[in-house]
Amino acid sequence: MATTKKTATKKVAKKAAPSLKFNTAWEYAPALEGTSHVTIAPQYELFIDGKFVKPESGKYFNTINPATEANLSSIAEANAADVDKAVKAARKAYNGAWGKMSGAERAKYIFRISRMIQEKARELCVIETLDGGKPIRESRDIDIPLAANHFFYYAGWADKLDYAFPNRKPTSLGVAGQIIPWNFPLLMAAWKIAPALATGNTVVLKPAETTPLTALKLAEIIQECDLPPGVVNILTGAGATGAALVQHNDINKIAFTGSTEVGKLIQQACAGSSKKLTLELGGKAANIIFEDAPLDQAVEGIINGIFFNQGHVCCAGSRLFVQESVYKTVLRKLKDRMATLIVGNPLDKNTDIGAINSKQQLDTIHKYITIGKKEGAEMYQTDINLPRKGFYCKPTLFTDVAQSSRIAQEEIFGPVLTVQTFRTEDEVIEKANNTPYGLSAGVWTDKGSKIFNLTTKIRAGVVWANTYNKFDPTSPFGGYKESGYGREGGLQGLAGYLHI
Ligand code: NAI
Ligand code: MG
Repeated sequence: MATTKKTATKKVAKKAAPSLKFNTAWEYAPALEGTSHVTIAPQYELFIDGKFVKPESGKYFNTINPATEANLSSIAEANAADVDKAVKAARKAYNGAWGKMSGAERAKYIFRISRMIQEKARELCVIETLDGGKPIRESRDIDIPLAANHFFYYAGWADKLDYAFPNRKPTSLGVAGQIIPWNFPLLMAAWKIAPALATGNTVVLKPAETTPLTALKLAEIIQECDLPPGVVNILTGAGATGAALVQHNDINKIAFTGSTEVGKLIQQACAGSSKKLTLELGGKAANIIFEDAPLDQAVEGIINGIFFNQGHVCCAGSRLFVQESVYKTVLRKLKDRMATLIVGNPLDKNTDIGAINSKQQLDTIHKYITIGKKEGAEMYQTDINLPRKGFYCKPTLFTDVAQSSRIAQEEIFGPVLTVQTFRTEDEVIEKANNTPYGLSAGVWTDKGSKIFNLTTKIRAGVVWANTYNKFDPTSPFGGYKESGYGREGGLQGLAGYLHI
């Protein structure tokens, strides 16, 4: 890998235009976020029935800071016996206090969680950055506020379910098993827990093994909010813990966000059972620039769409389609903007691209970069030095990409953008739809008619127009095709947790 990297950098250096010197001209002094207000315990137990308890498995694993490779904490690993304990606690709470509580009463607890997340936002965002590697700017301005907003929004629905689904009598499902990934740890926990509680269900949640800390902090918050014991249980562990949760026969609903590969396994495991299932899986979003688009704004949106959160975003705009007449201009602007991106310490407020979440994910990204070069695409990376310790990847762009190439078809989940061209609307619609995925897309144009045409013909759950990666608790999110099914967020997000 090291040799490949070297040659790649050399190639770029030779080609670099004078305008690519931004990095040295614009060097900012470090502006590190403090960590003295943060408490991370050396060891965390499982959160079952309102208490932190030692795992039946007796096992623990480490969670590290991917920016430095330093160990952060030792985390309990739940096995099938622990899963059973948590499901029993959730069932007891469902049959008892929580199941009998009025919506208005449930809402008070959910509002309380939202308020408490806001109060602890400064600590939570630093922990999110330490545990997962994402820039502090993002965890501070996006992840944590959105997580609080999500609880706030769903608290408002708890006593209005009859109005949400007029002429129906919506009823809760029971116990929900929820499995979440590492790219938006606290936010995904909020996406899962908030609608489940609002609709009167109880929860067993499993965070991802590389980013368990904010979910455990959320467990502390839930304890402080005095939720009846067992309403929310948080089990840490890896794939085997998730699988045990999926297989438990006293669960009424599984909600999963993660890879399409694991999503398929979960679908198989749930087949033939009465478990309700929602899956939010991978993506390979097309971001489409027409010649009449405001190009600078579009380029900014493209950069945000793929390099935001290191490309660890299921709806990342990983495939750029540029109308032929503006291809050269867009490519130049894109490279110029890429050259200004700051890659490095995620705790630094100037950082645009932080650390890749794990060694494993970095290896996956490098694997795809190698595939892209072998497939004959032209690679471009900016000429920057990466920190020596930790997992980092240079922002990468591929041109001359064939529609059938793997880098244009498969989810890379890293800061890697492929660029293709098109002439007509019909052509770009066909190309955009030509992947197994259908989670999101972006359209950049001055013309409303093109926006309408594309948003109706692109098979994706979300299509952004003249913006990208914008989220709000009130708007539903979810996929077509292999991106999964079911919607999270908004009114639609309630439906996944109700018999209607
Ligand atoms: P993953 O799908 O293995 O992990 C997601 C969650 O599922 C984690 O909590 C994990 O512990 C759990 N899990 C793993 N195996 C399981 C099983 N058999 N049964 C139940 N739960 C299980 O994703 P991974 O390996 O971390 O990433 C691989 C690829 O998945 C990435 O490169 C990316 O392409 C994609 N991905 C997509 C995400 C999305 O938001 N759609 C999020 C994370 C990864
Ligand atoms: Mg970690």
